Amino acid sequence: MKDKTSKIVPSLIRRGVLCLNDFEARARRRLPRPIFGYVAGAVEDNRSGQENQRSFEEYGFKPRVLVDVSQRSTSVSLFGATYAAPFGIAPMGINALSAYRGDLVLAQAAQQANIPSIMSGSSLIPLEEVCAAAPDTWFQAYLPGDRSQITALIDRVARAGVQTLVITVDTPVSANRENNLRTGFSTPLRPSLRLAFDGLSHPRWLMGVFVQTLLRHGMPHFENNYATRGAPILSSKVMRDFSDRSHLTWDHISAIRKRWDGHLVIKGILSGREAAIAKRHGVDGLIVSNHGGRQLDGAAAPLRVLPEVVDAAGSMTVMIDSGIRRGTDVLKALALGAKCAFIGRPFNYAMAVAGHAGVGHAAALLASEIERNMGMLGITRLDELDSSFLLRQWG
Ligand code: GLV
Repeated sequence: MKDKTSKIVPSLIRRGVLCLNDFEARARRRLPRPIFGYVAGAVEDNRSGQENQRSFEEYGFKPRVLVDVSQRSTSVSLFGATYAAPFGIAPMGINALSAYRGDLVLAQAAQQANIPSIMSGSSLIPLEEVCAAAPDTWFQAYLPGDRSQITALIDRVARAGVQTLVITVDTPVSANRENNLRTGFSTPLRPSLRLAFDGLSHPRWLMGVFVQTLLRHGMPHFENNYATRGAPILSSKVMRDFSDRSHLTWDHISAIRKRWDGHLVIKGILSGREAAIAKRHGVDGLIVSNHGGRQLDGAAAPLRVLPEVVDAAGSMTVMIDSGIRRGTDVLKALALGAKCAFIGRPFNYAMAVAGHAGVGHAAALLASEIERNMGMLGITRLDELDSSFLLRQWG
C-alpha cells in the first residue's frame, strides 16, 4: 500500500477548517453566485438532500471495548487496488469553474492521498489530460442518446487508459433545477450584466480561475460528454447538445459490457430490484446514490436502501454516495455493507478555497476522523465492521 500522503494544512486549521462542512461558507464567499449555486443546489424542495443527511442520524454505534486498537488501518481494496481510506471523490460537473484546472486538482490530490476519484463526463478538461496526470482516475459517463456515439465515447475512454467506467443512470430526463434559474446559472453561461457583476465582485475567482484559464487554455468547452468536443462554457447563442436519453435501457448496458473490458460500475441504483438486474448484466460495481439529491426529489436516501442493495448484489462491489460528511457517516455506510463512500460537494468547496492543498486537507481530516473513530468502535480493520455495530435509533 502506498503511504497516506494527504496532509492537514496548519493554516487551514488556523482559519477554522476543522471538518468537511467548514469549507462550505468559505467557498460561498469565494465563488460567484451562479457557480456556488450550481454546486450547492439540489432540486425542487431539496427533500432528498435533507433525507440524505438525516438518514445517517438514524443510526447509533454499539462499540466494542477493551480490545487492542493500537494498530489501526483505514485501507480498503476496490477492484484489485488498495486505497489508503474507504472514501473517494464523487464525480462533479464543471469542476474547472470552481478552481483553476479543477478536475486535475481533484484527480492529482486524490492520487496523492491514495483515494479513488471519479471524473465527471460533464467536465471542461479533456479526460486524456486528467488520465495522463492521474492514471488511476475513474471516469463517469453520461451516455449519449445514440448507439454510435456511445460506442465512440466508450472507445475514447478505453484509449485514455481508464480502467473503471462509471455510468450514471438516474438522468433519463433532466432534473428540475429551479435553483439554477434563480441564481442565473445555465450551460453555456449566457453573458449578461448580472453575470459580469457576479464575476467582478469575486476578483480572486475572476483572475485566479476564469481569466487564468482563458489566457492559458482558451475558452473552456464541455470536453467529455461525447467522443468529440461539445459546447463552450460561455456563449450568447450556442446550445449545448442535451440529446435525449429517455429511451436508453439495460440493452445499452449489455452492449457496453460486451465492448468494455475494464471495471463497469453503475451509479444511481436505489433498490435491490435494480441491483439484481445490474448483476444479470455483468456489472462489477454499484454506487447507491440519489445524485446528492439533484435528480428526483424524494428519491430514497441511499443509506436506507443500502442493506437491500447489498443483499441483492452478490459479488458486485457496492459503494455509496450522497450526504456523507463525517468519518462516522463513512463508518455507518461500511457497517451496512458499502465498500467505499464517495463525497462530492465538500471536495469541490475544498479546492475552491485552497486548491490542491485544500483537497488534501479535506481528505486528511476525513481519514483521521475514520481512524480515530475506529479506535473508539473497537476495530483495527474496516472489514471487522458489520451491522452488529449499529443500532437503528428511530425511523
Ligand atoms: C451533474 O451531475 C449535476 O448533478 O449537476
